[in-house]
Amino acid sequence: MPTMMVAGNWKMNASTTATAELLEGLNAGVASLPKNTQMVVFPPLPYLAQAQQMLQNSSIVLGAQNVSEQAKGAFTGEVSASMLQDFGVRYVLVGHSERRSLYAESDALVAAKFQAVQAADMVPVLCIGETLGQREQDETLAVVNAQVQAVIDAAGVDALACAVVAYEPVWAIGTGLTASPEQAQAVHAAIRAHVASQNSAVAEGLQILYGGSVSGATAEELFAQADIDGGLVGGASLSAQSFLAIGQAAK
Ligand code: 13P
Repeated sequence: MPTMMVAGNWKMNASTTATAELLEGLNAGVASLPKNTQMVVFPPLPYLAQAQQMLQNSSIVLGAQNVSEQAKGAFTGEVSASMLQDFGVRYVLVGHSERRSLYAESDALVAAKFQAVQAADMVPVLCIGETLGQREQDETLAVVNAQVQAVIDAAGVDALACAVVAYEPVWAIGTGLTASPEQAQAVHAAIRAHVASQNSAVAEGLQILYGGSVSGATAEELFAQADIDGGLVGGASLSAQSFLAIGQAAK
């Protein structure tokens, strides 16, 4: 059972050509990653079928960046969890800071999406993180714990047994600023302690990823921290070479 996850969130960057090139490169290199490492890619929705096909005989797992909280029906433009499942998706991001801030996704909506993903037998990757202003006001732990608690209140703490958490400080996303390993570890430990206060076994087994400008240069020290179980990578996941270099750091 892999204990480290290296997840690539492509965001709104892809084409059929780029998808083919990137997945060919990752397929060629994935066997050289440490044995305990699971690689997951999150392409934009229109490329899921192409990715599913290209990952048929691969150890790389497919994820999706977003999902509707609704099961089916008259919701023009939305995509349901069962549709994602139909295309071989195993992990779905919920609550990414770009969805929260640019598309006004509330804690309640994020919790509903989290539950929709689990209802379709997939694993939600719950993204949480503070803004720079919140960090400067010393609100980091209160903010991330409240984001986790909103899901626990809706779904129950046991639901976290089949979920992944990704701590992504908003100020570190796409900025080139990475939380220091000590800063990240402190938040990860606090999240785990918050969950442990409600269910220690669930907390112990919970995979908590770090995201925010992770690169080949920063990954090794981040991944060496006791409570960091991998990374959610944006920009550096768009090239096979840089994403594989991050995977190599996941020992
Ligand atoms: P960057 O790695 O580009 O900072 O993006 C992080 C992220 O938002 C992954 O979900």
